Amino acid sequence: MQKEYNEIIEQATAEHKLEKDEIETLLSCEGSTLKLLFAAADRVRRTFMGDEVHLRGLIEFSNYCQRNCAYCGLRESHKSLPRYRLDTAEIVAIAGAAVPLGYKTVVLQSGEDSAYSAELIAVIACRLKEELGLAVTLSLGERSEEDYRLWRNAGADRYLLKHETADVELYGALHPDMTWENRKKSLYLLRELGYQVGSGCMVGLPGQTLSSLAKDLLFLKELDVEMAGIGPFIPNPNTPLAKAERGSVELTLKMIAIARLLMPQAHLPATTALGSIDSKGRQKALVAGANVVMPNITPNKYRRLYEIYPNKICLDDNPAHCRNCIGGIISSLGRTVAEGAGHSPKEQFTLGLG
Ligand code: 5AD
Ligand code: SF4
Ligand code: FES
Repeated sequence: MQKEYNEIIEQATAEHKLEKDEIETLLSCEGSTLKLLFAAADRVRRTFMGDEVHLRGLIEFSNYCQRNCAYCGLRESHKSLPRYRLDTAEIVAIAGAAVPLGYKTVVLQSGEDSAYSAELIAVIACRLKEELGLAVTLSLGERSEEDYRLWRNAGADRYLLKHETADVELYGALHPDMTWENRKKSLYLLRELGYQVGSGCMVGLPGQTLSSLAKDLLFLKELDVEMAGIGPFIPNPNTPLAKAERGSVELTLKMIAIARLLMPQAHLPATTALGSIDSKGRQKALVAGANVVMPNITPNKYRRLYEIYPNKICLDDNPAHCRNCIGGIISSLGRTVAEGAGHSPKEQFTLGLG
């Protein structure tokens, strides 16, 4: 006999484990049960991660990409998009300006752009760490084992590589010339190299089912990620998925809440994509399990060109303005901005680290 919703939520809150069919059941809950799910996730977040919200300053340093992901506006086939690359001095200056705003971590993100040699990225990561005292997250897509190792040795703390979807067929359909097997291999490699690993998925991709989404959560749990970014799919008019429907706010929030129950110690961002389709999206995520925000610290003139999906928030705002805005959101929820580096609370990452 199928367990009641309440029973499943209680069990997940206590044991942080769920079967695939139980996840699917929770993903379809509504009304008072949905409220119960969000409240349980919020409680688990407070117990394991506290009331602090960690800020990660996002630097979108190159919008060049060699890939052709069907959903993404940076895809190589989007020829009319003006492309830009920031150099080392610009990146260090942007990160330097984020320090007085209170940032302790920067995320270096780009499309898959081989114009940046592994050595160059290593130098940048090293300078951000040594000169500015920042924790460094890299998010540069799939690269070779040697590259990942070089960067880790240069001091990069974390690597963010979303798995996008754990539905193998859907993964294949959305990613020409890429395979689920490679993605998985890269993620396990990053884990072996001692990175704090971030992954994550989109919600509401065309063809995605509740079964696909349950697989996403089970994959994140199996990989035992230190961070999981879960955001809605937003159709981009410059891609083959222009006419697809966007992901729902509610389903995205359910995914975040269940992720919190399953992975009490994972950092879960209230994603920019969620904030872009719902003006209160990030606030809603922060009270449904999320404990991280990743404000954009890319200079204004480049933001517009990092057009992964349309109507991204903060396009006309500068880093200081976004920092203020986020500070306001966090205090309005009775939460505080974290003072530390925000490493994973797992023991292997806190011993000897800030
Ligand atoms: N809608 C939502 N998220 C997207 N991403 C890329 N395209 C879209 C889209 N259309 C996300 C992917 C990728 C990250 C850079 O942005 O998850 O990992
Ligand atoms: Fe490139 Fe990443 Fe966009 Fe895929 S999702 S096209 S790899 S920037
Ligand atoms: Fe950029 Fe609110 S976070 S304006």
